[in-house]
Amino acid sequence: MAIVRTTCNQAVRPLTATFGSRGWSVGGCALDDLVDRFGSPLYVMDEATIVSAASAFVLGLRSAYPGPSEILYASKALCNTGINRLIHELGLGTEVVSGGELATALAAGIPADRIVFQGNAKSPDEIDLGLEAGVGRFMVDNLDEIEALQARAAASGRQARILLRINPGIEAHTHEFIRTGHVQSKFGIRPGAALDYALERLEASRNLEFMGLQLHVGSQIFDITPFLEAADVGLDLAAELAGRNLPVRELDLGGGLGVAYTEADDPPSIADLTAAVGKAVAQGCERRGLPLPKLMLEPGRAIVATAGCTVYQVVAEKRTHERQSLLVDGGMADNPRPALYDAVYSCDPVAGRMGNRGDAPSGAESTWTVAGKACEEGDVLVKEATLPSVGGKRRLVLWTTGAYCFSMASNYNRLVRPAMVVVGDGQADLVRERESFEDLLAHDRLPLRFISPSPRPDLASP
Ligand code: LLP
Repeated sequence: MAIVRTTCNQAVRPLTATFGSRGWSVGGCALDDLVDRFGSPLYVMDEATIVSAASAFVLGLRSAYPGPSEILYASKALCNTGINRLIHELGLGTEVVSGGELATALAAGIPADRIVFQGNAKSPDEIDLGLEAGVGRFMVDNLDEIEALQARAAASGRQARILLRINPGIEAHTHEFIRTGHVQSKFGIRPGAALDYALERLEASRNLEFMGLQLHVGSQIFDITPFLEAADVGLDLAAELAGRNLPVRELDLGGGLGVAYTEADDPPSIADLTAAVGKAVAQGCERRGLPLPKLMLEPGRAIVATAGCTVYQVVAEKRTHERQSLLVDGGMADNPRPALYDAVYSCDPVAGRMGNRGDAPSGAESTWTVAGKACEEGDVLVKEATLPSVGGKRRLVLWTTGAYCFSMASNYNRLVRPAMVVVGDGQADLVRERESFEDLLAHDRLPLRFISPSPRPDLASP
C-alpha cells in the first residue's frame, strides 16, 4: 500500500478528511451517511492515515538504521481484531499487555512470534497463556516476574525469550499520569543492584533466554530528546553487559511519540523521530564498539490517533446566562480522556461551519461547551469550542480520537460502546459492532433468593 505522507501527525484530521457539499467526509465516505447507516455515536477510522503512519515508522527506521529493526504496534491504543490485523499486514509486530490483548492479537491471526508480551503485573494465568501461545518475547518488568516465568516455563517444559524493562530515570514533559520513565515510576527495573540481581537470576534460569533491554519514557511526548537520552542509557548498559558476556541483541526504545489534538500542537513527525533515533543508536554503537542490536519502537497513539474521529448526534442546545452547551449522545463513556487528563480536542459540525469552509449552512460562530450525556459534571468533551449554532438535530465530529478512546471506553451509566468502522476509497467496513442491551445484561446474574414472593415483612411500608 502506498505511503501518503510521512508527517500526518502534524494534522488534527485524518489525511483523507475533506469538506464538500455533503459536509465532512473521511475515506471517501460522508460522515452523515455513515451515521445514518451505523448509528451514533460512531468511531470512524481512516485506513489511509493508519497505512501512512505505520509505513512511515517501518520505512523510516529501516532507512535510518543500518541494523535490523522492528516496529511493534502498542495495541493498548486501540485493540480490535480488525485494526490489529490491518496494522500487522503493514509489517508491524504487536505489543500486548494482558491476556485479553493477547487473545485479541491471536484471534486477529497475528503469528505468536511477532507478539511481545508486556505488562507489569502479569498473572500466573497470563504467563501460561503467553507460554502456551509461544509469544516472541516476554517483556519482564520486575524481579518476581523472572521467578514466576522461570517456574511456569520449567513446569510446562517451554523456553521463553526475555527483554528486561529498564526504568531509565528520564523526565519526559507530558501529563504526569502518562510519564513512565522517571525514577518514581512503577514501571521497570532500575539500573544498578536491581538490574544486576535480575541478570543473575536470568543467567541461572534454564528456561529463560536474555535478549535485550526496553526503555519507554512516556506517552504524548513532543520532544525527541527523551528518546535519545533513553537510547544513551540503553547503550551504556549494553556496553556494560557486553563486558559481562551478556550481549544486548535487542534494544527497544518504547512508544510515546505525541500527536496534534489541536492546531496549536506541533509534535515531531514520525520521520523526524525514526531518523534521529536510528542515527543515534547506530553512532552510539560505533562509539562504544558494540555490534548493532535489533532496534525496536512500540508506537501506539502515533499510528491510530489521527486516523480516528468520533461522530455524535447533538441532542440539545442549552443556553444559560453563564454558558451555552451542546449536549451530545456520547461523552466520557466513549472518550474518558478529557475527564482523566484534561485532554483538549478539536471538533467541527459535520455539516461544516459558517463562512470559513465555503457553502456550509448555519448561524454565526460563538463559544460552546460540548458536554456528554453521563451523569457526571466532568463529562465535558470540549470546554470551549468555537462553533455555529448547529441545532438540536445536527451532528458533531470530534477529531483525533483513534487512540485511547475505544480502548478506555466504559459502560458507565450503562451506555453501550459505539460501533467502529474503517473507511477507505468510499468503502466502510464494520470492525466493531455497537453493543446491545443484551451485551450489557449478558454477565449479570440475578440470584433467585433475592426475589421474595412478597415484600419482606420488616421492610413493608407501615
Ligand atoms: N510501550 C509501552 C511500554 C507503553 O507503556 C506504552 C503506553 C506504549 C508503548 C505506547 O505509547 P504511545 O505510543 O501510545 O504513546 N491512556 C493514556 C496513554 C497511556 C499510555 C500507556 N503506555 C492517554 O490516553 O493518553
